[in-house]
Amino acid sequence: MSYGLLKGKKGIIFGALDEHSIAWKTAQRCYEEGAEFILSNAPVALRMGTLNKLAAETDSEIIGADATSMEDLSNLFDAAMKKFGKLDFILHSIGMSVNVRKGKHYTDLDYSYLTKGWDISAVSFHKVMKVAWDKDAMNDWGSILALTYIAAQRVFPGYSDMADNKAYLESITRNFGYYWGKEKNVRVNTISQSPTQTTAGQGVEGFQGFFKFAEEMSPLGNASAEDCANYVVMMFSDMTRRITMQNLFNDGGYSNTGISEEISKRFI
Ligand SMILES: NC(=O)c1ccc[n+]([C@@H]2O[C@H](COP(=O)([O-])OP(=O)(O)OC[C@H]3O[C@@H](n4cnc5c(N)ncnc54)[C@H](O)[C@@H]3O)[C@@H](O)[C@H]2O)c1
Repeated sequence: MSYGLLKGKKGIIFGALDEHSIAWKTAQRCYEEGAEFILSNAPVALRMGTLNKLAAETDSEIIGADATSMEDLSNLFDAAMKKFGKLDFILHSIGMSVNVRKGKHYTDLDYSYLTKGWDISAVSFHKVMKVAWDKDAMNDWGSILALTYIAAQRVFPGYSDMADNKAYLESITRNFGYYWGKEKNVRVNTISQSPTQTTAGQGVEGFQGFFKFAEEMSPLGNASAEDCANYVVMMFSDMTRRITMQNLFNDGGYSNTGISEEISKRFI
C-alpha cells in the first residue's frame, strides 16, 4: 500500500547488503512511497553484485563509499547533489564489529579491531553528517536517521563492543542533532530496532536467544525489518518534522517490559 508520503523526496540509503537487510526493505518502501535515492555500500560489499537487483527494482543508482573514508563520502555527496540538488533524507544502516566477527570476548577485546568497528559503526555517522554539513547538502526539514540497538542502554552478553559503538552512535545523534536543528532545520534521530534476522544480526553470538527472548517479552512481538522500513518512511515524511535528537524504540514494547507472563511462568 502506498500513501505517497515521500513524493518528490530525494536521499541516500546506506547499508543494503542483501534482501534481508533493513536498508533493503527500507529502500523498497521508500520507493513505493515516491522517493528517489542513491544506494550506497562499501566497495567490498558491492563486489557481491546483489545490490544491482535492488537498484533495478527501485530505479536507483549505486555509488560505492566506505563510510569511514571522508574522500569516498565527499565523492558520493557530490554525485548525489549533481543528480538531485539538495537532499531530503539520509539513512545510515551500517554496523560491524571486528571483535564480534572474530569471536573476541568483551573481556579480551583487540583494540585495533575495536577502533575499526567503532569507526564503521559509530564515527561514520558523524562523518556522513560532517560531509553533508560542509556541502550544505540537506534541504530545510530534512531527516537523517541511523539504526541502533537497546544494548546501548542494557547489557546483552555477546553483543560485545557493538554495545559501546551503539551508545556512541546515539550520543552523536543528540550532539550533532542539536546543531542540525539550530542551524539547518534538519532532524537527526536513531531508531532502536528489535533483533532482526539479517547478516549483521546473525553474526552476534547468542543472537537466536536474543531474538526468541525479545519475541516472548514484547507485548506486540518483535518488529520486523518491514516494520522498521515503515517507521523510517514515517520519519522521512513531513509528518515528523519536529522529532529530533531522539532514540526511538521500534521494538513491540520490549524496552518498557520488565517481564512477560510467558517468561515468568517458566520459573514457577
Ligand atoms: N539485525 C539486528 O538485529 C539489528 C537490530 C538493531 C539494529 N540493527 C542495526 O541495523 C543496521 C543495519 O544492519 P542489518 O541488520 O540490516 O544488517 P546488514 O548486515 O544487512 O547491514 C549492515 C551493513 O553495513 C555495511 N557496512 C559495513 N561496513 C561498512 C563500511 N565501512 N562502509 C559502508 N557500509 C558498511 C554492510 O556492507 C551492510 O550492508 C546496523 O546499524 C545494525 O547494527 C540491527
